[in-house]
Amino acid sequence: MILVTGATGNLGRPLIAELAARGRKVRALTRTPGGARLPAGVEPCDSTAPDFDGVTALVVNIAGTPGSTDALLDAAKAAGVRRVVTVSALVVADDEAAGEGSSAAIHRNLETAVAAAFPQWTHLRPGAFAANALQWKAQLTAGDVVRGPYAGACTAPIHEADIAAVAVQALLGDELLGQAPSLTGPHGLTTAEQVAILGAVLARPLRFEEIPAAAAKQAMLSHNSWVQEEAIDSLLRYLAGTVGKPALVTGEVERILGRPALTYAQWAEANVSAFQN
Ligand SMILES: NC(=O)c1ccc[n+]([C@@H]2O[C@H](COP(=O)([O-])OP(=O)(O)OC[C@H]3O[C@@H](n4cnc5c(N)ncnc54)[C@H](OP(=O)(O)O)[C@@H]3O)[C@@H](O)[C@H]2O)c1
Repeated sequence: MILVTGATGNLGRPLIAELAARGRKVRALTRTPGGARLPAGVEPCDSTAPDFDGVTALVVNIAGTPGSTDALLDAAKAAGVRRVVTVSALVVADDEAAGEGSSAAIHRNLETAVAAAFPQWTHLRPGAFAANALQWKAQLTAGDVVRGPYAGACTAPIHEADIAAVAVQALLGDELLGQAPSLTGPHGLTTAEQVAILGAVLARPLRFEEIPAAAAKQAMLSHNSWVQEEAIDSLLRYLAGTVGKPALVTGEVERILGRPALTYAQWAEANVSAFQN
């Protein structure tokens, strides 16, 4: 039995679907076990009371959501779980981004705790998810303009299906044990270029309009009551540091999966319905 946290999220859904399709027993943690609409055969479990009965492997996929993962790891260890796949972040390798409360620090602490407690671990370090575009849904319902910080911020967005496919390999095979692959999409794209690709796929004249970082910070704080200010500050510093530089493209997805990483346009094509009213 594989216990997956964050199972209903952007990454969790394709991950549990792939594991179920391969005939694996999956228990999906969620705050709403009654209404989670899980794939056939996947067992829902209340995330406030994780059931480790029969669990041999755990996916920790909630570092970016509020709350500590300490109790989860303690319970997994007490239950005799040996294999843990951590969904960490590309930014953990960046010392300058690792101030207290930052995403880098949170994911670093998680990696350290998992490696110390479990004999079989893999830390997946994805960069920006292509699915972050879903944050633009409300703006794109209102019109054709996406407003945000740093039009020129350049990342290589990764399709969550690629992260899920690597996670499946880390769970079912042994070749990724003790590794921490940095996972990116195949191309560097500025935020403005991402909006333009989305517009081309949706056949809409979308454009990105840059707003000052301070205004973007206020908007993020008002939309995410639980996010620490330092996490937003470090994200904005990180994005500012990517402007005018080529994005890191690692090629790790292709090395591990033996096929090219999926493109941003492929992500957009697969998610057209999410942007239709
Ligand atoms: N987004 C990125 O660019 C990025 C980059 C690098 C690493 N990561 C890592 O990837 C992980 C997975 O990302 P994701 O986009 O798949 O996650 P997500 O969809 O935002 O969230 C995953 C699940 O967490 C639960 N959740 C959401 N908000 C919550 C809240 N306020 N309190 C408690 N639970 C909440 C929800 O499950 P239920 O409603 O079913 O309980 C949700 O389905 C992140 O946690 C982060 O550690 C993300």
